[in-house]
Amino acid sequence: VSLYPYNTFHIHATAKYFAAFTTLDELQEALDFFYKQQSTSTPQDLLVLGGGSNILFTKDIDGLVLKNEMHGIEVVDESEEFYYVQSAAGENWHQLVMYCVAHNYAGMENLSLIPGSVGASPMQNIGAYGVEIKDIFHQLQAYDLLEKTIVNFDSGECHFGYRESVFKHQYKGRFVILNVTFKLRKTPVFNIAYGAIKEELEKTGVQELSIRAISQAVINIRKSKLPDPAVIGNAGSFFKNPVIDNAHFYRLKETFPTIAGYAAGRQQTKVAAGWLIEQCGWKGYRNGDAGCYNKQALVLVNYGNATGGDIYNLSTAIIRSVQDKFGITLEREVNIL
Ligand code: FAD
Ligand code: EPU
Repeated sequence: VSLYPYNTFHIHATAKYFAAFTTLDELQEALDFFYKQQSTSTPQDLLVLGGGSNILFTKDIDGLVLKNEMHGIEVVDESEEFYYVQSAAGENWHQLVMYCVAHNYAGMENLSLIPGSVGASPMQNIGAYGVEIKDIFHQLQAYDLLEKTIVNFDSGECHFGYRESVFKHQYKGRFVILNVTFKLRKTPVFNIAYGAIKEELEKTGVQELSIRAISQAVINIRKSKLPDPAVIGNAGSFFKNPVIDNAHFYRLKETFPTIAGYAAGRQQTKVAAGWLIEQCGWKGYRNGDAGCYNKQALVLVNYGNATGGDIYNLSTAIIRSVQDKFGITLEREVNIL
């Protein structure tokens, strides 16, 4: 089965087996079939796929790709302050945000227009414009591929960090996330600390702040600098913004006064990787169909027929040059397969 339609980098890769599931029963059926073929009962060579917007295929998948297509959004509980909104994992993230904005459930508006599925959102604790899902996360339900049971995870158990969770490490490949419940405010607390949002609100003449206005501002900003995967293949930021010791940052600032960084706790600084990459001359670079986006150097792009290997090799070259110039080792954010 071709995975080309299922990854936003538009890489030509294939899977030996492919199954889309809309219910837990269908998931179990697909697993039973696959285990029978493989004469095993352990979750090996399995990949759960949402929107394929944070994956780079560098090889074919010699196993089973499971596409999560579980749907449904409902308010499962409420308190004086909060609505508890549960979404099935296969729902589109942005559509869930639009649904919540329309119903005045506040808290996810800053996360508008992030591609992909709800089920993948806890994987790397998606974040943008001053909010991460850990700020609105209540709990999730997942299917344990090893124990064949359903397990609940609360926020603490997910070990959320910057683009991190337990599902990328200790529990990598073990759980299929089935649904996620978010805790959303009845009375909004507006988060416009991120400078670009304020500028956009002023520019568009917004008089009265609302979650709808913030959502629209974020959508406008994102459209102005991020490539639309429907047009140019990409998976958003290819690298994480590196976190370095303050001492290292101040040393760099003496040589490079325009270096962009933000406090990350008291001892460390989060440096804008896009700035580092741009300074190394990569912004707008293109070799064949693999390139570094001309409006946002943190985003690697496929202009058409780049292979996963082409993109991966470009990322290695970028890591090397940033290491040589700044002594900082960039870490890939995209899942490499
Ligand atoms: P996929 O790419 O399908 O999967 C990603 C990982 O999650 C894989 O390891 C997969 O196995 C696993 N997975 C997916 N679904 C499940 C499930 N149900 N159960 C268990 N594991 C699962 N990210 C941000 O954080 N902030 C941004 O601002 C942002 N901007 C982006 C902009 C663009 C233009 C693009 C293309 C991407 C951007 N991203 C951003 C990255 C991406 O949107 C997120 O990582 C998103 O959560 C990926 O969702 P997905 O369904 O496409 O995941
Ligand atoms: N910059 C440059 N040159 C560039 C790009 C950026 O100098 O080519 C500098 C600028 O100084 C700019 C700063 O970097 O002010 C920050 O840039 P931007 O606001 O575009 O954000 P980012 O740090 O590059 C991060 C996330 C994005 C998220 C935005 C908004 C990571 C790895 N990336 O990007 O997430 O949307 O902030 O919050 O943390 C993603 O994860 O896929 C993603 C797109």
